[in-house]
Amino acid sequence: MSSSKFYSALAAQLEGLLSSERDWLANTANASALLFMELPDINWAGFYFLHDDELRVGPFQGKPACTRIPVGAGVCGTAVATGQAQLVDDVHAFPGHIACDAVSASEVVIPLYVGDRCLGVLDIDSPTKSRFNEEDLAGLQEFARVLLAHSDLPTG
Ligand code: SME
Repeated sequence: MSSSKFYSALAAQLEGLLSSERDWLANTANASALLFMELPDINWAGFYFLHDDELRVGPFQGKPACTRIPVGAGVCGTAVATGQAQLVDDVHAFPGHIACDAVSASEVVIPLYVGDRCLGVLDIDSPTKSRFNEEDLAGLQEFARVLLAHSDLPTG
């Protein structure tokens, strides 16, 4: 299956999963489970939510992870500080990378925006270097767009 077909099918699965639920916590929990179930060759998939100037871990699948990440720190904090998605082929070459699991080798992080408000990030790790490419990034950005469109946003 091509990458674009895979991600179209994934977005359709997410639409189905969220069609009768708008609770943000419930939807991010199910979204992380869907990603972990469907994406091959990953070891962590989940969310960090922004509280003032730090990220705190939200729903995820995978091994327990670091709880708090300051904005600007690591791959996740860099995504928030710059407002840009991060596609990291080799996490060990990323200055300040925060290693929650020594097995992780590559990572993609997508900041979650509603208008100009950043809510947090979607973070996915893989044990394989260069696991994610631009097509994965585009597919995951669409996944995030569907998630945001189907969820009432946290007020905090
Ligand atoms: N590696 C991330 C930390 C979060 S874990 O990957 C789950 C980072 O550098 O921000």
